[in-house]
Amino acid sequence: MYYIGIDLGTSSLKLLLCDEAGVIHNSVSEEYPLSFPQPGWSEQNPRDWWNALEKALPKLIRDIDRTKIRGIGCGGQMHGLVALDENDYVIRPCILWNDGRTEEEVTYLNETVGRKKLSACTANIAFAGFTAPKILWMKKNEPENFNRISKIMLPKDYLNYRLTSVFSTDYSDASGMLLLDVKNKCWSKEMLEICGITEDMLPELHESYDVIGTITPEIAEEFDLPKDVIVVAGAGDNAAAAVGTATVSDGDCNISLGTSGTVFISSDSFRVDDYNALHSFAHAGGNYHLMGCMLSAASCNKWFAKEVLRRGDYDAMQSEITEDMLGNNSIYFLPYLMGERSPINDTNARACFIGMDMHHTQTDLYQAVLEGVAFAIRDSVEVAKQLGIPITESNLCGGGSKSLLWRKIMANVLGIRLAIPVSEEGPGYGGAMLAMVGDRKYPDVKACAKALVKIKGYEEVDPAIAARYEEKYRKYRLIYPALKDVFEKIR
Ligand code: XUL
Repeated sequence: MYYIGIDLGTSSLKLLLCDEAGVIHNSVSEEYPLSFPQPGWSEQNPRDWWNALEKALPKLIRDIDRTKIRGIGCGGQMHGLVALDENDYVIRPCILWNDGRTEEEVTYLNETVGRKKLSACTANIAFAGFTAPKILWMKKNEPENFNRISKIMLPKDYLNYRLTSVFSTDYSDASGMLLLDVKNKCWSKEMLEICGITEDMLPELHESYDVIGTITPEIAEEFDLPKDVIVVAGAGDNAAAAVGTATVSDGDCNISLGTSGTVFISSDSFRVDDYNALHSFAHAGGNYHLMGCMLSAASCNKWFAKEVLRRGDYDAMQSEITEDMLGNNSIYFLPYLMGERSPINDTNARACFIGMDMHHTQTDLYQAVLEGVAFAIRDSVEVAKQLGIPITESNLCGGGSKSLLWRKIMANVLGIRLAIPVSEEGPGYGGAMLAMVGDRKYPDVKACAKALVKIKGYEEVDPAIAARYEEKYRKYRLIYPALKDVFEKIR
């Protein structure tokens, strides 16, 4: 039997086809544009996601026996506001997870409504990328659009809706809307009232592995698929990636180096820290997780190579950074290209290089970019440590994890051993696994992860390099506090 995993990412849609033993038979990806209509804004057209699916799916299943396709599961970029009118037309482009336009709404929610109340209702406080502040932004700035809203959904829910006609979401993704009472797994009446929306505008809630329905007869015909292909609710991309890397038991950690960079800690019990420094969300296996998310991780790499250096030969660029250079760079890079979420929650923060002198080269700057991302990930790991969560080892996934150099930098900046799963395609693989659980091939997500996820190797800590990075990290930590006010003044 075959299962299709969908990773609805920020730069592309990735599909993979695997069987119930976890063997990947094919994978296809299709890029789509990302637009930045104003500084700090970030949007995408949901129709582009669908068009990408329509292009990629036939390629994925071209050479296989389609009657053996059983299920589809999607892991999708979180927090995006997709709004449909009563005729199911997309009202405006989706405002994405890394959009920073809602500073005013975030201040209103955190200061006027109050962090305490938000945390009591949802287990989280407001961050610019979360969905609720975007709803408030739309209400104030685009009242005609706001008044047309009939359905509010998250990015992957839009794909599921087009596949099945079922208006649904799952707890892991819904957690990032700031509308869900995460602890009790229901919509928060108080939050709906604060945002001026009603429950009928929101999707029905499911566990990620719940079957929400089968594909519609039209979809079966369009892609020449069996009529009874099931679709599960799916998960936010980080929860799906955690499933795909077997980060499912209490205390397991996964770090993802995708467009965003995340530190994901699986937890069997619900918990919220007093400062809401880490997000407290539901996990795709029915349990919970804590997460820190930085907004620009692999995107810093892409930006520096493509936009600044006008190069795309990452391997060649990285081969110039030799092992003896690690921990010896005196240039620092703050990776705040889209402002920053965890842990500083500052939409005004911006990226910058600091510490350059005449002897520095392009290569030193590039090294600083890769290191800056690792330092910013460490900021979230430090928060977890302060909460008493010891992170002694982590899985690593996402596009950035394919780079041997970046893996080495990450392991030594964090001072922990990193496990590299056979499939780096965390969200897509996790999506397919959720479909297998929905199809009862495995009794639950933990059993599925235990059976399927294999580790292909480890990135060990090199004590000498780690010691050098320890000192560098302490210096890195001085930079943002010194520039915080400057960022506000120069915006
Ligand atoms: C998580 C987050 C990102 C997006 C995009 O909170 O905003 O990781 O899900 O991948």
